[in-house]
Amino acid sequence: MSSPTILKLGGSVVTDKDEPETVATESLARLAADIAAFDDPLVVVHGGGSFGHHHASRHGISRTDGSRDAQAARDITNAMRTLNDAVVAALADAGVPAVPVHPLSVAARDTDGDLTLPTASVETMLDSGFVPVLHGDVVAHAGEGVTILSGDELVVSLAESLGAERVGLCSAVPGVLDNEENVIPTIEAFDDVAHVLGGSESTDVTGGMAAKVRELLALDSPAYIFDAAGVGPFLAGERPGTRIG
Ligand code: IPE
Repeated sequence: MSSPTILKLGGSVVTDKDEPETVATESLARLAADIAAFDDPLVVVHGGGSFGHHHASRHGISRTDGSRDAQAARDITNAMRTLNDAVVAALADAGVPAVPVHPLSVAARDTDGDLTLPTASVETMLDSGFVPVLHGDVVAHAGEGVTILSGDELVVSLAESLGAERVGLCSAVPGVLDNEENVIPTIEAFDDVAHVLGGSESTDVTGGMAAKVRELLALDSPAYIFDAAGVGPFLAGERPGTRIG
C-alpha cells in the first residue's frame, strides 16, 4: 500500500459548534468537493463539534476521566455515528468512495491510557480504493470504563501505523496564531509557541490547539494546521497554514 494522506476535519468545520447536534451542511459540502478532487489514498477523520463535546461534558467524561455508565457511552457514540453518517453521505454525494469506521468497535486504551487502534480494516479499505472515515468517539479504557478518544489522537495513531505521507488538520483558524493573530508558518518545538497557545473557547474536552501541536510534533510525517480554505491547497500538495515539525 502506498502511504496515505490523513485529513482531519475538525468539529468546528463540520458542525455548528454552538448549536447542539447541528451539521454545518454548506461547509461540509464544500469540503467534500475539495476531497473529491484528490485521487491518492486518503483517510478522513472528523471531530465531535456540537455532536460530541456537550454529551461528553454532560457526562463528565474526558480523555482521562472515564465512566462505567453504558448509557453515557451510547449517548456519545450514537451522536458521533449520526455525525459520521452525515459526513460520509456528504462525501458520497461528492463522488468520494467513503466508508464509515467506528473506533469504539476496534480501539482500546490500556491502564496507562495508551491507545491500540488495529488498522487491518483501514489498510484493506485503502487497498480496495475506499476512503475510510473515522471519528472521535468513546473508547474502552482499562480500569476506567470509557474515555473520550479525540480525532487528533486517531490522526496521530493512524499516521504512525500507516506511515502517513502527509497529515492535515483543518480547524476553525487558518493555522496556529501568534499574539498578533498572524499565522505562524512553522513550529519546530513546543517551547517556541507555548506562550501563545491558550485554551479553546467553546466546550472542548480534548485540549484545543496546544494539545494538537504537541501531538503533531511527535509525528514523523509532515503535518499542517489550516482552516477550511486550506483543504484544497493541502490536498493539492501545497503548504497552507502552519507546518508542524
Ligand atoms: C472529540 O473529538 C470527540 C468527542 C467528544 C466524542 P475531537 O476533539 O477531535 O473533536 P473536535 O474536532 O475538537 O470537535
